[in-house]
This record gives sequence, structure tokens and C-alpha cells, in this order.
Amino acid sequence: MADGSSSTLTTTQQDTTLIIGGGLAGIFTALKLAPHPVTILTAAPFGEGASSAWAQGGMAAAVGEGDTPEKHLADTLVAGAGIVDETIAHMMTRDASARIEDLLSYGVPFDRDLEGKLLTGREAAHSERRIVHVNGDTAGKAIMAAMIETVRKTPSIRVIENFVAEQLTQVDGRVTGVIARGGHGTAANTVHFSARSVVLATGGIGHLYQVTTNPPEANGNGVALAARAGAVLADLEFVQFHPTAVDIGRDPAPLATEALRGEGAILINSAGERFMLAIHPDAELAPRDIVARAIHAELAAGRGAFLDCRETIGARFAERFPTVYASCIAGGIDPATMPIPMAPAEHYHMGGVFTDANGRTTVPGLWACGEVASTGVHGANRLASNSLLEAVVFATRVAEDIARLDPNEPILIGQDNVAGGLMPAGPQDAEIIAAIRKIMADDVGVVRDAEGLTRAVDQLTQLERKTRSAMVLNMLIVARLIATAALNRTESRGGHYRRDFPEADSVQAHRSFMALAGNLQRQPQAEKKVALA
Ligand code: SIN
Repeated sequence: MADGSSSTLTTTQQDTTLIIGGGLAGIFTALKLAPHPVTILTAAPFGEGASSAWAQGGMAAAVGEGDTPEKHLADTLVAGAGIVDETIAHMMTRDASARIEDLLSYGVPFDRDLEGKLLTGREAAHSERRIVHVNGDTAGKAIMAAMIETVRKTPSIRVIENFVAEQLTQVDGRVTGVIARGGHGTAANTVHFSARSVVLATGGIGHLYQVTTNPPEANGNGVALAARAGAVLADLEFVQFHPTAVDIGRDPAPLATEALRGEGAILINSAGERFMLAIHPDAELAPRDIVARAIHAELAAGRGAFLDCRETIGARFAERFPTVYASCIAGGIDPATMPIPMAPAEHYHMGGVFTDANGRTTVPGLWACGEVASTGVHGANRLASNSLLEAVVFATRVAEDIARLDPNEPILIGQDNVAGGLMPAGPQDAEIIAAIRKIMADDVGVVRDAEGLTRAVDQLTQLERKTRSAMVLNMLIVARLIATAALNRTESRGGHYRRDFPEADSVQAHRSFMALAGNLQRQPQAEKKVALA
């Protein structure tokens, strides 16, 4: 544990490719690079701490009869509310079926019909049946189990567990590795892992919020690492709140998959009123942000919000949705006979580290894929079940890009940028983390306005002076950047809702780019404006 003594740095590791993060994007990159040697650095024991394993939806891919990558693209564009990068998104929908084939070859047991054809389900905002599942709501778990099994049989992949990355090292701006702390970030000593290519696959930002469906390791660390190295970030203000997390006081909050509403479950308040009917013609199947705001409003008004599955799913619940069922039962709720209390929860970050079609960031030597990256495919709002797809499509592209590099290029082991004096997270930091999560929930959450966002930026800036823990400092930096991006966007679009600017503004129908002040290296596209925060 933290003892207040200053840290020491040991240089012990040299790798060709270092992947930070052991979720689906990181593992897929490593498998696609095989037999090139790769090290995966994970903040938690391998297989834990990754949102991918918790995914209850499935993976979207135009593999069903009559469906096409172009129809999938069209739905992705609509969900993204006008700012999806169409070229990149088309690349993703076209690559989808090849990646499903890869997953099958790694042993993922996607559900099939009696003829052996992949079974495809439909989800909100998809015009076709195109979601492949595994045994109802267990796709993430099954995919990760197959991936981990494959990694164990792949000698080119080395996994180092329980190391929290604190800072990327650089020489003349090029990333040369990472300084990481063992013992889940609590060890006194840090290790410098040097590598020719570094891939960020650290996941999302959920743990910056009080209520989230993400594991604690999803705390925005990768975005902060990249920002501190000078990378351009994109679309940070776009955070997706899942409307239906099970509100039983658990942290993280268990997800109640949208598929439940797809099967007819309805939302009611404590008076038994079906409040979505008055809000949207699609009622419970309205876009996620609209349902999330409606539940937020019921809770704020003290009326409560509940998912009622009694009529439509009832006794089939345990078999159809085993993961949600187990969470409810653990919280003392039998969903077959009782309404389930709901709250919106931070679920997915559309924004992140800006990358090109090959997952390259704007910093030489640094790639990003999975939720930490902002490829532009999600725009202002992610279409359900596009996240696992994005992870595997861009992990593949990152791996192919790295594999093309000159193998004789030397591994630089220097560092000319390391901030000294940073320490492991200690007991005093728990209070700061709790404060970050409350500020983000209160002022940078489902409903935002200038007053709250300005307050959030001020409070987060002040907190930055109160910690010497690299991990907590990283959380504060990302939280402040998200609040700043949300303050800058004076309109409502997709997952970003401003009560003081409730309409979309066509002048702002574009992506946003940002860099840490004093750290901008190069702009993503010449004509784009990059704000400094
Ligand atoms: C869900 O099952 O509701 C979540 C799926 C997703 O976020 O893509």
C-alpha cells in the first residue's frame, strides 16, 4: 500500500509491441499480431477489469439474409446524430463479417439455428436482424473466455498482470514505452516497459461517474496517458448513459440489457404509470439518450423508475436473461414477479483518443483501439452492439499496421518527459475519487448546463492540486477535459444534452478535437480546429 515515500523507477522490460489493456481490443490486437512477440499489460488479473466481458448485447454484423454493410452503415449514421465519420464507419460495417469469422475460428460459440446458420437478433435502431448473441445475454463473457483460452495457447503473447500504467515515456515526442506501477497501482516501485510500438486498449471512462455499468479499471486512464503525451483527443463530450441499470446500490451497477425492452418489458414509475408513452412514439424503444433522460426525470421528481418484465417475460426470465436474473436475485428482486428498480448509468464513451483508419494516434509510436479510441464511427451516439464490433475491426487494423513496420528498427529505451514525484494511490485518494464521481454525476451527467459544467471544471482543476497519485491525477485530467468539451458544445446532440441549449445546431454538426494545453503536437486534419484545455 501507499506509504507516502517517493517512488523509484526500475527499467527492466523491453518489448517490440506493448499493449496496455487486456479487454477484447487488446487481446484481439495481440492475437492478430501473432507470431510477432507482444506483451499485454493489464491493470487487473488477466480477464478481469474489462467491460468486454460484461457485454450483454451481442455484436452487430450484416450476416443475416437481406442485410448488407450499407444498411448497417445507414443505421450507424442515424444513431450517430450527424457527426459519424462515414468512410471509417463503412470500413467497419464492411469488415464485420470477416471479424465474426475470426471469432468463430477462435472458438466463440455464437448462437445458431437448427441448420447451423448464425442466429441474428434485432435491437433498437437497427433496421434488420443483425446482432449475433451467445446464449441470450452472455456474449461478452463467452467471447472473452474464448479469447483468453486462445491467448494461453499462443506462445508469442506474454501477459503481465496488475500493473497500472501511469505515464507514457517519450524521446523527441516519439512514444518509447510506459511507466507502470505494480500491485494494482499501489506498489512503491514503478517499472519502465520500453517498446517500439505501444497500443492503448484501456477501455472507457465509467468509473469517473457515480453510477456506471463499467468495471473500476475503466477510469479514463488511457485517454489521460495519451493527452499527457500530446495526443489529440476527439468528441470527449459524447458520453452514452444506458437507461436501464439495476438500481440496487451496487457499484458498478448491473446492466439490464436493452433486449429486455426489445422483448416487451415496459418502464413504469412508482404510481404504475408507463411514462415513456407520452415521451416518444417508440416508447421504451426510443433512442437510448431519450429513455435515459426520461428515467432521470422520474427519479429527480421522486417518482422512481422500474422495468416491468412480469407480463412479457415472466417465468422465462431466468433462462432468457441469466446474467440479469442473477444480479436481480442477488439484490433481493425476483424479476419474474417484481418490477426492477432502474437508474441511468454511464455505459460507453464515444469520445477518446483520436485515431485514423489504422488506429494511429497523432503521436508517433502510439496506437489506440477499442473504447479508449475515438475512430469517429459512433458520432454523438453509439448504435447498440457496435462497440464489440469496433473493438475487433480496429484491433485488426492496428495489428496489420504494426506488422508492416520495419522489424529492424531499434527499440528506444530513453525517456525525456517523465514527471517526477508521483506516488501510488493512497487512502487519502479515495476521497478525491469519490468527489470526482459525484461532480461528474451531478454536473457532467445525463442533463448538463453551463453553470454546472463551469462549476465542474473549477472543482476538478482545484482537486488536481490535492493529489500526487498518478492514477488519480489521470482521472482528474480526463474528467476535466470531458467537462470542458461539454461546456464548449453549446447545443444538444446524441448523448450530449444541454438544458440551456436543448436543440441541435447545424453549425456545430461536426466532431470536436482537443488537446492538453501546451501539449498539442499536430492537428488531425488541417482544417479542423483543436481546442486547448
Ligand atoms: C445492452 O445490451 O443493452 C447493451 C448493449 C450495448 O451497449 O451495445
